[in-house]
Amino acid sequence: AIEQTFSIIKPNAMKKNAIGDIVSMFEANGLKIAAAKITVLTADKAGEFYAEHKARPFFGELVSFMTSGPVMLMCLQGEGAVLKNREIMGATDPKKANAGTIRSKFGDNVGENAVHGSDSVESAARELALFFEKHEICNV
Ligand code: CMP
Repeated sequence: AIEQTFSIIKPNAMKKNAIGDIVSMFEANGLKIAAAKITVLTADKAGEFYAEHKARPFFGELVSFMTSGPVMLMCLQGEGAVLKNREIMGATDPKKANAGTIRSKFGDNVGENAVHGSDSVESAARELALFFEKHEICNV
């Protein structure tokens, strides 16, 4: 089925000037960009986004990294977009990510792992609604 999923290019990948390379990998794999914006997240917004990780020891570090510079927020659309995006990203820890994946190429460590992608259709809906108004997402 055609799905929409949420993607973030994280501050470390933005610093590497890697937007074009990362978007090219999505497009080369059949995903389309249905919405995009570049912004600096507030700590409140990052904390709300990562609410499920609030009790983790790395939560503070995660929020401070995610607010450390601009990010690019996107809606990716395509056949099986949620799983396809996860395959293109590779494993959470760049050391474990398959060669050729985004995290293998642009990740620095498990925290600074270049990109976020929704883990399910349900998460995608919640995450997209946090960052985009309905009218900002196009049916591409
Ligand atoms: P993401 O897909 O954005 O969702 C949760 C994030 O928590 C994850 O990517 C990692 O960047 C981060 N994370 C997971 N485990 C750790 C860890 N042990 N230390 C720091 N950050 C982590």
